Amino acid sequence: MAGGDPQALLAAAADRVGKPPNGTPARPRVGVDLGTASCVLVVLDDERPVWVESAGSGALQDGVVVDFARAAATVRELRERAVDALGIELTSAATAYPPCIPAADARACTYVCETAGFRDVALVDEVTAAQRTLEITDGVVIDVGGGSTGVGVFRDGRLERLDDRPGGGHHLDLVVAGALGVDVSEAEQFKRERPGEALPILTPGLHRIAESIRAMTRGTDADLPLHLAGGALMLPRAGDVLAQYLQRTVVTHPHALLITPLGIARSAP
Ligand SMILES: Nc1ncnc2c1ncn2[C@@H]1O[C@H](COP(=O)(O)OP(=O)(O)OP(=O)(O)O)[C@@H](O)[C@H]1O
Ligand SMILES: [Mg+2]
Repeated sequence: MAGGDPQALLAAAADRVGKPPNGTPARPRVGVDLGTASCVLVVLDDERPVWVESAGSGALQDGVVVDFARAAATVRELRERAVDALGIELTSAATAYPPCIPAADARACTYVCETAGFRDVALVDEVTAAQRTLEITDGVVIDVGGGSTGVGVFRDGRLERLDDRPGGGHHLDLVVAGALGVDVSEAEQFKRERPGEALPILTPGLHRIAESIRAMTRGTDADLPLHLAGGALMLPRAGDVLAQYLQRTVVTHPHALLITPLGIARSAP
């Protein structure tokens, strides 16, 4: 499995969520995804996922750490749970920042992990991390998370263009909340539990995300397929809505929520 087979790697990671570790890693590689919606910690043994756990975040907005203490406490707790479960120390990790934020904001992601107990922290941008899971050489990697949409255009394995704009699952929740007259948490529940009913309500919001993708890929080859990562487009048929609206090939991946966290772990030393 893994190494060369992104789908098998993703399935193996999904299989570890909320489960005890399947072995003690000889060569642990830790990835910390400080997301807007959730914080995910992945431990690989070289390439094999052994531990995956997430916790609600709320400490980031538009990719920026807005509550440092809370973010550090969340990562520390996830780290300690992994250390206890695996029975080994975890001293180094990789973490990621949304593309195009100021360097000082990207560094804050490193400091969060250092404060949480990691001594060596490698930093990568989220879209490059997602590409490390999908191993796309020619295509557009799109990470639509809770807060923002990151886009990386890859050609011959080289990153040609990188961008990020606000807009993600939280904004879709606001659309549902407005349409149904409910609060955001109820809207989130409705979106997940009744996706068939949510889709027509969300279509204008999905078109907005599509417009943002169009703007961020302008001037690049329109024949490149769009690969969807991140949780916000895990709604069934959301990929079809984008494909039809943009008249482009859209590739969805199972367990899209884990693509970026896994790629961050693959970026760890
Ligand atoms: N099954 C699902 N159907 C629809 N939306 C989903 C589903 N699962 C998760 N989401 C949405 O995905 C979003 C979280 O995705 P993800 O974990 O990729 O974001 P994040 O990494 O925390 O955020 P960001 O990358 O923007 O900082 C939430 O807004 C949530 O509503
Ligand atoms: Mg994310």
